[in-house]
Amino acid sequence: MCGIFAYLGPKNTASEMVIEGLKRLEYRGYDSWGIASKTEQGIEIHKEVGKIGEIKPTDLNLSSSNLAIGHSRWATHGGVNKRNAHPHFSENKEIVLVHNGIFENYLEIKNHLKKIGHNFVSETDTEVIAHLIEEYSKVHTFEESVHLATKEIEGRYAIVVISKEENKIIAARKGSPLIIGVGNDPNEYYIASDIPAFLPYTKKVIYLDDNQMVTLTNEELKFIDFEKEQEIEKRIIEIDWDIESAEKGAFPHFMIKEIMEQKDTLSRAINQEQDDIKKVAKEIEKAERIYLVGCGTAGKVCMVGEYLFAKIPKIKVNFAFGSELQNFKEFITKKTLLICVSQSGETADTLEAIEIAKEKGAKVVSIVNVESSTMARASDIVLPIKAGPEKAVASTKATTSQLAILTMLAHACNGGIQNGKQLLINTASQINDMLNPRYEEYIHNLAEEIKDVESMYIIGRGSNYPIALEAAIKLQEVSYIHAEGFAAGELKHGPIALISENTPVITLAPNDELRKEIISNATEIKARGGYIIGISPTNHEVFDFWIRVPDVGHSSPIVNIIPIQILAYQLAVLRKNNPDMPRNLAKSVTVK
Ligand code: F6R
Repeated sequence: MCGIFAYLGPKNTASEMVIEGLKRLEYRGYDSWGIASKTEQGIEIHKEVGKIGEIKPTDLNLSSSNLAIGHSRWATHGGVNKRNAHPHFSENKEIVLVHNGIFENYLEIKNHLKKIGHNFVSETDTEVIAHLIEEYSKVHTFEESVHLATKEIEGRYAIVVISKEENKIIAARKGSPLIIGVGNDPNEYYIASDIPAFLPYTKKVIYLDDNQMVTLTNEELKFIDFEKEQEIEKRIIEIDWDIESAEKGAFPHFMIKEIMEQKDTLSRAINQEQDDIKKVAKEIEKAERIYLVGCGTAGKVCMVGEYLFAKIPKIKVNFAFGSELQNFKEFITKKTLLICVSQSGETADTLEAIEIAKEKGAKVVSIVNVESSTMARASDIVLPIKAGPEKAVASTKATTSQLAILTMLAHACNGGIQNGKQLLINTASQINDMLNPRYEEYIHNLAEEIKDVESMYIIGRGSNYPIALEAAIKLQEVSYIHAEGFAAGELKHGPIALISENTPVITLAPNDELRKEIISNATEIKARGGYIIGISPTNHEVFDFWIRVPDVGHSSPIVNIIPIQILAYQLAVLRKNNPDMPRNLAKSVTVK
């Protein structure tokens, strides 16, 4: 979602570095951006609507500076325009601030500030924080004022603040990520909402946790816990991410790079600490009730989990979208186990579900990609999926890795973790064979054929029903073609009315006990003019176009989604959409 980048150090190119840092955060999705640099003349602010794209810092005529903060905004409070873009000034223009997340009680505070003479130029909640800090600064130091403001703000947020009078950056976090990069020069620091932003400069990081505030100056780095009101020590951690994994390399887009990486990512997911998997399997056995919780694509992965657990260890697990779990809170007790699935580990709706579970004393397991995320930190047990940075907004490699871990977990609950591992090793090796340029070319031919259709549908049964739903998400978000997934048996109860001459219907038809039924559904659709695209290990006469996938038993959801990811990508490119940054979407959804 929104991105933050800040620099303080000996170099006088802070503004340039902030612009380059914001470019590395572009994948998160945004609609406007801005930077504030502290110069000899005061604070210079530059804001723009749209993408940073090819803008060179030199085009902007920015003065030299060794302290700057920047932000890429994904609009929540107020429209997309320069006024609402961050950074925001306080009333007296002495304090400047960028902010991620949501300030829930901002209206109450804004009204109070208005009464005592403050005027606001934007519609944002963020501007209110700058004004609030200014109010406190009338009788307190800059640091104390930020501290007091943090205690008043309700919601999830990360803020980075500078003042015209002082050469320091103050940052605070509650529920929205902020990481400090420790530079190679003495007293050189970066702050970002995501590590890839400063990865070219340093791999030494300090994670700010919830309720923590940091003051960075040319002399010191000071941390406080603003709830407990005490100074704290933080550790520098050396991360092992390499810059290549966070860059596109020879690929035209991150999305296709990440789809192709599934040759390796699946094997990395399988190489989990077996003891951790067994530990989670034990918790599942002990629990009276289990909820699998996620949002969007991760939610669809959870739905697949529901089927896998019913089929393999025959355990009832309940699925809930993060935003919906609150409706079932009466059923959550200390004997409940919540298994959360997430790529970013920062999705507000899933984090809220964790809060509900924790309040009731339930145990929380998370299956996440970003190991330093809020979700991982809030969980009792973490199963990291180890997919490496996923930068395209549309989730691909994280999805299959999450599916692999749930498959392994379902087998572990059936006493057969080795069976699960063997199945997945076989799946990974078949995916390795499948993902070659010829396969891509073959799917490209289909994309050419259907690129101008108005609607398309995807049908599946059993564990491939949620994959039909996930396929629809993939197609919608990057191709912008209307796509919907259905449980194949449901079609005849209504949606079959949507089928007309040549409507593409992707049919997920693994070689399992449900094959006969889904083929018969495809036949019903074909009889009404539908164009059947079969995704299956074996061809069938009902298919107008056949995409072959390996025959991998319980892993069929993993192999079935991959050709659809490729199709969605190619449709996006053919329709001249940017597959990495689809309109209106953001990578990690940190608002409710
Ligand atoms: C779609 C997509 C989203 C995310 C959802 C949850 O391709 O990526 O639907 O799956 O926003 O995000 P995470 O997995 O970060 O919790």
